[in-house]
Amino acid sequence: MSQQSWKPVRLNDGKSGGSKGGSSSQFLVDLVIYNPEVKKTFQEVVDAHPSLQVKDPNDPTVARLVILELDEDPSESFSFIETVVQAVEGREVFLTSPRTDSQVLLEALRAGAKEFFPQPIQESEVGVALEKFVTRCQQATKEHTKKVGNILCLLGGKGGVGTTTVAVNLGLGLHGASPGRSVVLVELNQHGGDLAIFLDVQSNHSLRDLGSDLTRLDLALLTRVLTKHSSGMHILPSGYDDLSSGRISPESVEPILKLLQSVFDHVVVDCGHVLDLPTKKVLEMASTIIVMSTLIVPVIHRTKKILDLLRNSGIDGKKVRVVFNRFSTQEQEVLRETEETLKIDSSFVIPNDYPTASDSINNGTPMVLSAPRMPITKVFHDIVKDLGFGSDDPKEQANWMGRLRGMMNGRAASKTAQVS
Ligand SMILES: Nc1ncnc2c1ncn2[C@@H]1O[C@H](COP(=O)(O)OP(=O)(O)OP(=O)(O)O)[C@@H](O)[C@H]1O
Ligand SMILES: [Mg+2]
Repeated sequence: MSQQSWKPVRLNDGKSGGSKGGSSSQFLVDLVIYNPEVKKTFQEVVDAHPSLQVKDPNDPTVARLVILELDEDPSESFSFIETVVQAVEGREVFLTSPRTDSQVLLEALRAGAKEFFPQPIQESEVGVALEKFVTRCQQATKEHTKKVGNILCLLGGKGGVGTTTVAVNLGLGLHGASPGRSVVLVELNQHGGDLAIFLDVQSNHSLRDLGSDLTRLDLALLTRVLTKHSSGMHILPSGYDDLSSGRISPESVEPILKLLQSVFDHVVVDCGHVLDLPTKKVLEMASTIIVMSTLIVPVIHRTKKILDLLRNSGIDGKKVRVVFNRFSTQEQEVLRETEETLKIDSSFVIPNDYPTASDSINNGTPMVLSAPRMPITKVFHDIVKDLGFGSDDPKEQANWMGRLRGMMNGRAASKTAQVS
């Protein structure tokens, strides 16, 4: 397929409610249950209720209720439940497990599970809980709004321009910008594989696990493959690099991103710099595209080609931003001329600061956490603000930094954080 002939496909934004089939009185229930017997029992009880419908695994609509079976090591599921519950107002999680020890019950309640069903399942108990759930839904004053998280796509004008650096710091910046809003950072760069290193996390799973068999793609698999950074942000490394074989198929990208959008407020995607079909799919779905560049001629040259391609493909220019990395103050005139050449009204510039940038990578602690007061870091706050998630108030900016530091230390953000 020639790049010039690529036209983005208009996607259904899925902004329907939590009900299905045109009936506003039916609520979807997602059964994430491994044990077939147990699943069958839940299926029967749900089917018997006129206001409930079991969600088809291929349906990207977000279910209002998730009934989740805990696996052997429930700790990952607990942290994921918190995210699922926080992600959509009114969404509930019920748990079931053959384990009924008090520790599991306590953790389940703490994580936000509304009900816990020990196995073997008592159908009457489930029936009563579902009835109460339906009443809660019906009593909700406003129509439940389905979550469709923003997709922020970062594409490098060339290799090595700082796309991963910016993706990581922006992801954390968004995570700190508004408490309660969830962020997942996804690495779609199939030639990189740097994300886990930049964040110093050990990750046994990756995008590769999600893309390898789409028939298994559901909330349960997602729970297992995501890794939580110490800040609380979730990450999904690529799992592909130049040395390994296999590539993600373009067809996998849409269902994976839709699933992530149904759970997270922000899905930040590091696409690397290769404009292949999976990346084009992300560009189609993105609410914002950041093209990373520098003021070096070959990079400007390729950035122009990318921007022309986006324009010719019908992508709305309002959702495209250009960020020039490694900027020096004496380059103001070059910047102005470059903006003219690229036909863009404005851009963001990130100062050239190799020691801060490289230290943060080598220490596995992104700059917004390790160097929050450096000028290089301030730009991330400005971009978050430009995207509509930050504030002009210096106090709020101080809170932003405080929250990031607090998250890093695994404690609540200090309300009294100060900027020096
Ligand atoms: N503002 C900056 N000032 C100085 N150096 C920077 C800046 N931003 C990033 N760098 C440096 O640029 C190098 C490449 O950064 P990074 O890995 O983020 O680029 P990339 O575009 O993701 O590369 P790739 O194409 O390999 O994925 C790193 O050594 C990093 O320290
Ligand atoms: Mg990279």
